[in-house]
Amino acid sequence: MIRVLFVCLGNICRSPTAEGMLRHKLEAAGLADRVEVDSCGVGAWHVGEPPDPRARKAAAGRGLDIEHLRGRTLTANDFASFDYLLAMDHDNLAVLQRRRPAECRAHVGLFLDFAGLSDTPVPDPYFGGERGFEEMMELLDRASEGLMASLRERLEASS
Ligand code: 4NP
Repeated sequence: MIRVLFVCLGNICRSPTAEGMLRHKLEAAGLADRVEVDSCGVGAWHVGEPPDPRARKAAAGRGLDIEHLRGRTLTANDFASFDYLLAMDHDNLAVLQRRRPAECRAHVGLFLDFAGLSDTPVPDPYFGGERGFEEMMELLDRASEGLMASLRERLEASS
């Protein structure tokens, strides 16, 4: 089993949408039982809350159901439980790097590296309008495709 954790600030916009999108692609590829996906925030404002209504709307527009997801924060245990901890922006990444234990062997990096966009964030759409959510969907989709290719390679190498 490979485990992927998406990390953003509030866990109500970017990371739960990425979680729903990757899970959808894994299910379509018949790989849902080989890759586990989760998401969290580095902030605690929205613990226990469903994703932002604008994220749910943008996700539903692409056939993704993220209604059941609930916000949670990053824990120390996440560094041992997950193989990939993928940050949405540089602030989230800085938190991951600061809290990462020395013995952690996971891949910790920016999610958009998998879209071929190195050093590029998924802009935080929370304080903007619906357009920001559409741009977010485009970026998440590109990076999810790239991540799917890496996961396939890793699964093939291990089977
Ligand atoms: P997210 O967006 O990190 O993509 O979930 C945000 C959600 C909430 C807040 C900031 C960003 N907030 O400040 O409450």
